[in-house]
Amino acid sequence: MDSDHLLSTTRAVRRKLDLDRPVEDEVLADCLRLATQAPTPGNAQSWRWLVVREQSVKNEIGALFREIGTAYLEMMTEKAGDAAKDGPIARNIASGQHLIDVIERVPVFVIPCLQGRPEGGNEDLSVFYGGIFPAVWSFQLALRSRGLGSTLTSYHLRRETEAARILGIPDGFTQVGLLPVAYTTVPDFKPAPRAPIEEIAFVDHWGSPLR
Ligand SMILES: Cc1cc2nc3c(=O)[nH]c(=O)nc-3n(C[C@H](O)[C@H](O)[C@H](O)COP(=O)(O)O)c2cc1C
Repeated sequence: MDSDHLLSTTRAVRRKLDLDRPVEDEVLADCLRLATQAPTPGNAQSWRWLVVREQSVKNEIGALFREIGTAYLEMMTEKAGDAAKDGPIARNIASGQHLIDVIERVPVFVIPCLQGRPEGGNEDLSVFYGGIFPAVWSFQLALRSRGLGSTLTSYHLRRETEAARILGIPDGFTQVGLLPVAYTTVPDFKPAPRAPIEEIAFVDHWGSPLR
């Protein structure tokens, strides 16, 4: 796949996940191998990646996901008011709800983890989370180029300690999200609407647009 097409069509996939097609370990290993080529602060590579396939474990983690995700979407629906009835916000909420509804049926969860705990100010936190999010995105791109889809989700982190107990994650490791992973039911996706670069990118002085 052309790299510009890959970069512009790697979407958060929720509705178009093939819940019946198994995901092979080799494909996940290939994608993780590519992901670990991403940059890390001081080349620390302090990441760990937990692949969850076992149905009973997905059920337990899925229950946390559903409880927190449902509360979050209820809050978003209330906040959005009329916009939650129609249009892009309504579609986003419906898509989020669909993933919550089927979460345990998604073949694989991948939980990226980092050694250490986030603490300190902006610099410390940027360096901490910057130690894994470039790799998470590379992982999602590598999945997409092989016909799989994923969404980076954060719901279950509200109950991170409980999830760590279920998953056997030792103290001193921080979970940064959960990616439900599956083959997609459609071969291609479209670029999403985004704010024009002229409005969000500046040259030399804040407010002076890049043209
Ligand atoms: C840090 C982060 C956390 C996110 N958490 C969730 C989540 O908990 N649940 C969810 O359905 N999507 C989550 N998303 C996906 C976004 O909703 C999605 O990327 C956004 O709506 C744009 O859609 P697109 O990626 O298809 O363009 C998250 C994305 C990021 C980057």
